[in-house]
Amino acid sequence: MNKFNQAQEIVKKFHQEHLLKFYDNLEEDKKELLLNQILETDFELLKELYEKRNIVSDSKDKITPIAYTDKSKLSKDELEKYKKNGEEVIKNNKYAVVTMAGGQGTRLGHDGPKGTFMLNIDPPKSLFEIFCEKLNKIKNEYGVIIPWYLMTSKENNNDTIKFFEENNYFDYPKEAIKFFIQGEIPMIDTKGKVILTAEGLIKQAANGHGGIFEAMFNNDIVEDIKNRGIEWIFIGPVDNPIVQMTDEVMIGYAVNKNAAAIGKSIVKANPGEKVGVFCKRNGKPSVVEYTEITKEMAEETDKNGELVFGESHINCNLFNINAIEKIGAEKLPYHTAFKKATYMDENGKIIEPKEPNCYKFETFIFDSFEKLDSMEILRGKREEEFAPVKNKEGVDSPETAVSLYKAYYNLK
Ligand code: UTP
Repeated sequence: MNKFNQAQEIVKKFHQEHLLKFYDNLEEDKKELLLNQILETDFELLKELYEKRNIVSDSKDKITPIAYTDKSKLSKDELEKYKKNGEEVIKNNKYAVVTMAGGQGTRLGHDGPKGTFMLNIDPPKSLFEIFCEKLNKIKNEYGVIIPWYLMTSKENNNDTIKFFEENNYFDYPKEAIKFFIQGEIPMIDTKGKVILTAEGLIKQAANGHGGIFEAMFNNDIVEDIKNRGIEWIFIGPVDNPIVQMTDEVMIGYAVNKNAAAIGKSIVKANPGEKVGVFCKRNGKPSVVEYTEITKEMAEETDKNGELVFGESHINCNLFNINAIEKIGAEKLPYHTAFKKATYMDENGKIIEPKEPNCYKFETFIFDSFEKLDSMEILRGKREEEFAPVKNKEGVDSPETAVSLYKAYYNLK
C-alpha cells in the first residue's frame, strides 16, 4: 500500500478525514510532509486525551512532605567540602548544562525565541548572552569548556541558531554548543478534530518541558554526554537570568549524597503563591501543583513556623546520567491546556480566535521525578536563584527580572 492509501485508512479509522481534504492543493514536498505527519501521529493517544480532557483528577495519591536541606544552614566546613567536590566535577569535565528553550513564551508575547529577549540593563543583553557570560566565566576561572545543550522547538530552532550565529556565539566556543529539537504533538479542536495550519499541514505544538528526556535520547544527546564521560547534568530554564548554571555546592552535595537527582528549591513566598512545590507522592519524589493541594495543606506549618509544603520547584534540577537513562526509558503523562490557536477549519476557513479554542497537550519535567526512587532537595535563596521572565508586565515580568538581576550583580 502506498503512503497516501495508508494515511487515508488511518484518517478514516479515527474520523479525521478533513486532514486529507486539502492534500491536492499542497506542493509536492508538503504533500509528503503531511503524509508523514499522519503516519507518525499517535491518533489513539489523541483520542484518549480528548476523551479525558475534562476529567479533573480526583487522584487518591498520597501527598506527603519531602525532606530538604537548606543551603544557607550548611556549616562552613560542609560548604567548603561540597564546593571543592563540585569544582572537581567541573574541572574533570564531568559536567554539562542543558537549557530548555523550546517554550512558546505566549505570556511574554515576544516575537522570537524567549532566549533572544533583551533585558533592559546597561548595556542591554539577551538572556542567551547572559548565559554565555556565565559559561565563559567558568571557562576563564577553571579553564574548562562546559558542553552546553540547548533544546529548541521546531518553531524556534532556526531563529535560535541564527541569533547565535549573528552574535558569534557570544564568544563561547561554538563547538561546545549543541542545539536539539524537542518533540511535538498535534493540537485538537473542541470536537476532537486534529487541526490544520493555514497551509494545510497538521498543526503541532511542542510537547512540554517534560519532552526533554525523549528529545535528549532521540537526538543522541545522551549518547554524546556518555561518550564525553559526563556524569552530572544540570537542566534549567531559559527564562531566568540569574539561574545558577554551575552551582558548585549543589554539584558537590549531589556527589556526597550519591544522589540520583537534586531539585533546587526556594521558599514559597506565601501559602497562596501559584507555584508547584516538591513533595512525596505515594512515597516517590514529586511536585504537587498549587491547583492540587488543599488550603489546609498549603497553609500547614512545622514546629519552626515554616510551610510544610513550601519548597517551590523552579525548574532547576541536577541529574546524574544514570537517572536520565532511567527516566528516558519511560513515558510521561500528558496534561491538557485550552489555548488560542489560529487554524484552517474543514471548510478551508481560517479561524482566528479571540478566546481559547483548542487543546494543547504537554508533559512536565517534574513528572519524571517519580520514576526515581529518591531525590535530594536543596533550598537556595530566592534572590540568588530566581528572576523569572514570564509575563509581559506585572509579576514575573522583564521589569521585575531586571531589578532582581541588578540586585544580584550589584548593578545600578
Ligand atoms: P513555561 O512553562 O513557563 O512555558 O516554560 P513558556 O513556553 O516559556 O511560556 P508560556 O507558558 O507559553 O507563557 C518553562 C521553561 O520550559 C521551557 C521554556 O522555554 C522555559 O525555559 N519549555 C516549555 C520548553 O523548553 N518546551 C516546552 O514545550 C515548554
